[in-house]
Amino acid sequence: MIALGCDHGGYELMQEVIAYLEKKGLEYQNFGCDSTAAVDYPVYAKKVARAVQSGQCEKGILICGTGIGISIAANRFRGIRAALCGDCFSAEATRLHNDANILAMGGRVTGPGLAVKIVDTFLNTEFSKEERHVNRVRGIDED
Ligand code: RB5
Repeated sequence: MIALGCDHGGYELMQEVIAYLEKKGLEYQNFGCDSTAAVDYPVYAKKVARAVQSGQCEKGILICGTGIGISIAANRFRGIRAALCGDCFSAEATRLHNDANILAMGGRVTGPGLAVKIVDTFLNTEFSKEERHVNRVRGIDED
C-alpha cells in the first residue's frame, strides 16, 4: 500500500501519479488534498508520514510545488526518510543507499513524463542491504 499526499502545488502532478499507479494495478491510499485550492503542505506530509511510520503503508509519495516543504515536514518524523528526487539516478540511489520510504517531488519542477519514471524507479528498487548502508541508515535515527 502506497500513501499519497500533496498540496495544491502538487495536485496536478499527483493525478498523473495516480493514473500510473492505477495502470500498474498498485494499491494506494490517498490522503489528499483534493483540488488546486490552497492548503498547507505540513498537513498532508504528516498524514503520509504517520501512515508510513505506523506500517499502515509500506511507502509514500508526497508532492508540493517544489517538493521541499513537504519533504522537510515528513522528515521530522522518526523513521521517515523522505527523499526529494528530480531524476531517476537519485530515485534509484536513495532506495539502494538510504532505504528511503517516501518519495517527494516538485509539481512545479518536474514534468509528468519524468515524474512517472521517477516513481517507477523508486517503487521498483530494493534497498541494497549492504552493511555500510545499513549502518548509515541506522545512524540517522541515533541521538
Ligand atoms: C505553495 O505555494 C508552495 O509554497 C508549496 O507547494 C511548496 O513549494 C513548499 O515548499
